[in-house]
Amino acid sequence: MVKVITYGTFDTFHYGHFFLLERAKALGTHLSVCISTDEFNLREKGKSAKLNFVDRLRIIKNINFVDEVYAEKSWDQKIEDVVKLNINVFAIGEDWAGKFDFLKKYCDVVYLPRTKDVSSTLIRGY
Ligand code: CTP
Repeated sequence: MVKVITYGTFDTFHYGHFFLLERAKALGTHLSVCISTDEFNLREKGKSAKLNFVDRLRIIKNINFVDEVYAEKSWDQKIEDVVKLNINVFAIGEDWAGKFDFLKKYCDVVYLPRTKDVSSTLIRGY
């Protein structure tokens, strides 16, 4: 089994998110998705999602190629998650390019292309 993990808010779930998750899954055979909690978004990212954590989680856990879902509660949990879950590949959109290179000590780190012209910010309108 090749285990992949990715992180994000996934507010107003859109096709850019779906394509990102598909590409992440294609890097291995098992995909874990860590979804930012409402508290983490407000406290650390200064943003308020339109859909609450429970609704965002409900959408993602019903995607049939997503194998596990978890809560992202802090910036610092990634090393622990990767080690504890025996992750082989950390994948995330290229808007984060370089930001998670510190994980290369523990697993492969892949920055995937984003889908053009769609984002939660555009859909929310704030
Ligand atoms: N993503 C993507 N293509 C897009 C939008 C997002 O590949 N058009 C990816 C991001 O790079 C990230 C994941 O989807 O790996 C979750 O992104 P998130 O920040 O939740 O979505 P955005 O639409 O970028 O949200 P925002 O506008 O609030 O930044």
